[in-house]
Amino acid sequence: MESKTNSGSIETVIKESRSFKPSTTFIAQAHINDPAHYERLWQASQENPENFWEQQALSLDWTEKWKRVHEWNEPFSKWFTGGKLNVSVNCLDRHLSRHGNKKAFIWEGEDGTVTTLTYRELHQKVCQLANALEKKLGLKAGDTASIYMPLIPEAIIAMLACARIGVAHSIVFAGFSSNSLRDRILDAECKVVFAADVGYRRGQALDLKKTVREAVQECPTVKATLLLRRDKQTALVSQELDWNAFIEGQSSIHVPQSFDSEQPLFFLYTSGTTGKPKGIVHSSGGYLTGVTTTAKWIFDLKDSDIYWCTADIGWITGHSYVVYGLLANAATSVIYEGAPMHPHPGRIWEIIDKHKVTILYTAPTAIRSFMRSGDEHPKRFQLDSLRLLGSVGEPINPEAWMWYFELIGKKKCPIVDTWWQTETGSILISPIPGVTTLKPGSATRPFPGIIVDVVNDEGHSCKPNEGGYLVIKNPWPSMLRTIHKDPERFKEQYWSKFKGVYFTGDGAHKDEQGYFWIKGRVDDVINVSGHRLGTMEIESALVSHPRVAEAAVVGRPDELKGQGIVAFVTPRDSREKLDIHSLSRELKAHVVNEIGALARPDEIKFTKTLPKTRSGKIMRRLLKDLAAGKQVSGDTTTLENPGLVELIES
Ligand code: WTA
Repeated sequence: MESKTNSGSIETVIKESRSFKPSTTFIAQAHINDPAHYERLWQASQENPENFWEQQALSLDWTEKWKRVHEWNEPFSKWFTGGKLNVSVNCLDRHLSRHGNKKAFIWEGEDGTVTTLTYRELHQKVCQLANALEKKLGLKAGDTASIYMPLIPEAIIAMLACARIGVAHSIVFAGFSSNSLRDRILDAECKVVFAADVGYRRGQALDLKKTVREAVQECPTVKATLLLRRDKQTALVSQELDWNAFIEGQSSIHVPQSFDSEQPLFFLYTSGTTGKPKGIVHSSGGYLTGVTTTAKWIFDLKDSDIYWCTADIGWITGHSYVVYGLLANAATSVIYEGAPMHPHPGRIWEIIDKHKVTILYTAPTAIRSFMRSGDEHPKRFQLDSLRLLGSVGEPINPEAWMWYFELIGKKKCPIVDTWWQTETGSILISPIPGVTTLKPGSATRPFPGIIVDVVNDEGHSCKPNEGGYLVIKNPWPSMLRTIHKDPERFKEQYWSKFKGVYFTGDGAHKDEQGYFWIKGRVDDVINVSGHRLGTMEIESALVSHPRVAEAAVVGRPDELKGQGIVAFVTPRDSREKLDIHSLSRELKAHVVNEIGALARPDEIKFTKTLPKTRSGKIMRRLLKDLAAGKQVSGDTTTLENPGLVELIES
């Protein structure tokens, strides 16, 4: 993501060694606040990660204890084998005696409507739905279900009901197109789709049922769509069941079964370096151990906290740090369905004051847009309930970090810049807010029990401040278990570049103090507003259009979104017939239709040919330079067509 100016300022920050110690008031109340003690614990965890994780797993409720902490059949990992638990019991039932009346969620709609769910209410609703799924649809452990819903309590109830009966859920972000949804339902062989008729955002009602209906038509495994009708006018079509009628009369008592620690909890599709998204498979016991521990330590969770993570449940951040990690800690969370700057640019700050949010976890892209909209908006609000801030999804540039720290956190809230991935399940690199000295732009140090390094092409550790590849050297409990139906791709993607270590796909360097500075992706994945997209996926969408001969997609630095999408397209139309403005519009709409609005190219550049090496590979480096408006750098002598890229101008 780093543009020249950004990386320039990172260097300035390093030179100035600008750093921030936790304030004495924060330290006084933090769970972990003794640096010497923490350092000893951290060192021990580096020497024996399994021991550290075993201690953490003890905090969950298991109906049967594990026989072995870890089984490693490289690169396949199993954690807490022989152990049995139920994830929904860990998130709900075990809290009822002490926290039954505590709020689990405070939901706010864009129109300002607020509903709350206590742990007891949430538990009852989850039990009702679980009963109905078992009795009426015969769902059982090992089945799969898809969820295509906006951020509303029912979506979370669906997740937990699936978890309760051992059904793996596959949530598809409700901004993906019907084709994307169809492909994911087919790959996961889902029997049921949980859906809502509409979502509300930026004052609009988004027609989600249309997308679901189109997708489901082509999915023979789907027995039923459970449709939550928010709009009274919505009529049901075949295969659809009304959500409320479905659960009506169901008992709110459900006797849970326990499942093996390795029972898949969910699949989550994410972009990789090929045209096809991959179904990341997460487990139950190991995953829950990872997210529960990291949520508690990194967010310093207290009983009195009101926590707000702005991510949607369609992404891993929503799974781990809206739902599982937070509920397992009996926390209270705010969830908000709308856009953070609607109907006015200060909406996010208004919500913080209204619900007295103490912990805010959001993305650098959002922070940069708040910054751009003007300081007067946050200044209109008190924001004095906040005690801790978090950042996730992309590198945070020091300017945005400082703005967040000074204007939002009023210099008293530590910022936890958390590095992790869909694949890692839980946060792997992050400050511990009561002990870590922060450096703006660095995710600081690995979490206990995680061994991280930066290596060069040969796999040797880089020297301090030398750039290289970010790798994880030990297996950890919440790591992905495999790619659904594609173990070969799992091996190849993550475990083949360097022997025996996990390759993250990110570039980074480590400074003299062991702090990690993440630069962003080094593969053909781009990160647009914190959302991962494979350039190949967008290319496949473009070439599926009849007027496209060839396409290559690259990222370019974007001040607001981190990266923007630029497509180089060789059209089939003859030069005379070509209207590049209308074709550009048509192709952008085509990508939206094929993948979803998040993949819409920012710019399409039409070219007579694409630059290729003699072996036929597209020279992406050269296109990246061109897209960024830079001089084409490096060696172009291997180009098959050294006449460079001839753009077709309007
Ligand atoms: C990037 C999101 C720098 C990184 C949780 C990673 C970050 C990708 C950070 C995973 C961070 C995430 N600093 N970069 N704090 N957090 N990334 O799977 O490139 O959607 O590989 O998971 O986001 O994206 P994903």
